[in-house]
Amino acid sequence: MMTTTPTALANKRLAVLISGGGSNLKAIHHAIENGLLTDAEIVLVVSDKPTAKGLEWAFTQGLKTALISPALCKEAEVSFEAVLLDALLEHQVDVIVLAGFLRIFKAEVLTAFAGKIVNIHPSLLPAYGGKGMYGAFVHEAVLANQEAHTGCTVHLVTADVDEGEVLGQAKVPVLPNDTVETLAQRVLEQEHRLYAEVLQRWLPTI
Ligand code: GAR
Repeated sequence: MMTTTPTALANKRLAVLISGGGSNLKAIHHAIENGLLTDAEIVLVVSDKPTAKGLEWAFTQGLKTALISPALCKEAEVSFEAVLLDALLEHQVDVIVLAGFLRIFKAEVLTAFAGKIVNIHPSLLPAYGGKGMYGAFVHEAVLANQEAHTGCTVHLVTADVDEGEVLGQAKVPVLPNDTVETLAQRVLEQEHRLYAEVLQRWLPTI
C-alpha cells in the first residue's frame, strides 16, 4: 500500500530591519520562541546604524546580523538597496519586517518584495504618518494636539510613506500627565503585542 506523508509547511523566513533599540525585534523573537508566532523564523537582522542596540542584542541571541552602512555604501559607490537585496537573497528571505527601521526604501526593494514588506508605526494611521513622522516626533505631535487617543498600526509598505494597507491597529489612551516618554512606552507595549498578532494572522496569507 502506498502511503503519503504530509509535507510540513516551510517556515516563512523573516528579515527584521532595525535602526535603534529593537524592542519590536525582541518582541517578535520572543513570540516565535514562545509559540505565539508559528511557522516563522528570523533568518536575518539588518541595521543601517552601527549604534543600533538591537543589532548587538540580536548577535548575542545567535541571530544572523548584517550592518549595512549607508555612508560606507556611498564611499564604495554601491547602492544601499543593492547591498540589502544581496543579503536578503543570500538568506532566502520571504518577508521584510520593518521594526523601527527609519530609512525609506527605493523602488528596487519595493518591487522585489511587493506585498511582502510590513512596517509598524506608532500612531493610528492615517493620522500622524508620512515623511518626518517617526518615533518621538509622532508622540510630540499627538501631545501638542491634545489628542484623547493614539495608538499603533501595522501596515504594508508601498512607495507612499505610511499609506499601504492597514493590517492591524491598537488604540492607546493619552493620559493627562503623559510625556513623550510615558506615551511612547505605553504605545510600545501595544506595538509588541500587535506586531506578533498581525504577523501570525497575515504570514499564512502570502
Ligand atoms: C517604534 O515605536 C516604531 O513604531 C517606530 O520606531 C520605534 C522603534 O522602537 N517606527 C516608526 O516611527 C516608523 N515610522 P524599537 O526599536 O524599540 O522597536
